[in-house]
Amino acid sequence: MINQQTTLFKTPAPFNLRLQVRYFNASEIAALFEGQDIVQGLTASPKTLPAQYFYDDRGSQLFEQICELPEYYPTRTEAWILRHYAAEIAECTGACELIELGSGSSTKTRLLFDAYQAQGYPLHYQPIDISAGILVESARQLLADYPTLNVQALAGTYEQALSNLPPSDLSQRLIFFLGNSLGNFMPQECDRFFAQITTVLNPGDYFLLGVDLEKDSDVLEAAYNDRQGVTAAFNLNMLAHLNHRFIGNFNLNAFHHQAIYNSVDRQIEMYLHCQQPQSVQLKKLDLSIDMAQGESIRTEISRKFNLEQMQQYLQAQGLSPLQVWTDPKQWFGMILCRR
Ligand SMILES: C[S@@+](CC[C@H](N)C(=O)[O-])C[C@H]1O[C@@H](n2cnc3c(N)ncnc32)[C@H](O)[C@@H]1O
Repeated sequence: MINQQTTLFKTPAPFNLRLQVRYFNASEIAALFEGQDIVQGLTASPKTLPAQYFYDDRGSQLFEQICELPEYYPTRTEAWILRHYAAEIAECTGACELIELGSGSSTKTRLLFDAYQAQGYPLHYQPIDISAGILVESARQLLADYPTLNVQALAGTYEQALSNLPPSDLSQRLIFFLGNSLGNFMPQECDRFFAQITTVLNPGDYFLLGVDLEKDSDVLEAAYNDRQGVTAAFNLNMLAHLNHRFIGNFNLNAFHHQAIYNSVDRQIEMYLHCQQPQSVQLKKLDLSIDMAQGESIRTEISRKFNLEQMQQYLQAQGLSPLQVWTDPKQWFGMILCRR
């Protein structure tokens, strides 16, 4: 069981009455296991790193910049769907505890809040994010803009937070997972993830999923190799994060960013290619590795889905699709399911 630390965030009333933050990743048990996934990935062949390490404070800021890039269609396309259909989502679910996985800046979530508020439903929000800085800062901004909102923020991994969800004030839950974050999971990780989701949800509860759909590889590769180099900076920042967090010595200048579309596995793969040989130590993890010139680390997969197949998959996981929405180009999809 994770050793939870509950903190009341110190802001002037009335915020302090409406905001609670729990830090799961600050616990001793979490610290004991921290970084074992890195050791596993960097000693494997080919080398990989888990995408969650993109998100320290700087990584979260860079991701916000990515969302604004002309090439990066996912954020604005998903926002388009929410702008057009959030009212239908709220009508369909009725009043619910709103639980968001990987909430980040919660920008698109505002469209859901507006829809639930317009129906006269209370706003109870449980955002979950591994990046505590953006989680708390966004919660404060939301509280300023939504005077009736209550927030219980959970700083930790999806797994940690879902195993320790606070009781809901409302009788039903809607868990939502936007931005195609599901696409970062390998198929077997998806199965584990949904096993946990269906344990947490009671029959009659809801699950809302935003997924990126298959499309022309030129569009996909442009979105992850932007001309301003923001995605490259985001990718390299993962190594800066590891250097800082685990006392490491990755030489960032010796790595080059590249994203390619793998049409067989239907996924974008993001790499850092090593340009010169180097010995890397991560002291806190007691890890030393040698990287050869030309060797690569895969830092992310972003799978692209087919709406029909995804609905069949969700049904098989015990989540019955109720409604599906997409945009005029059919680049992004949103599926509302019921447990
Ligand atoms: C691609 S961003 C999406 C942000 C937002 N949901 C959106 O759609 O724009 C992924 C978010 O999930 C968080 N995240 C990534 N891996 C996580 C994990 N394993 N557990 C909890 N949060 C995670 C990141 O910090 C980041 O805010």
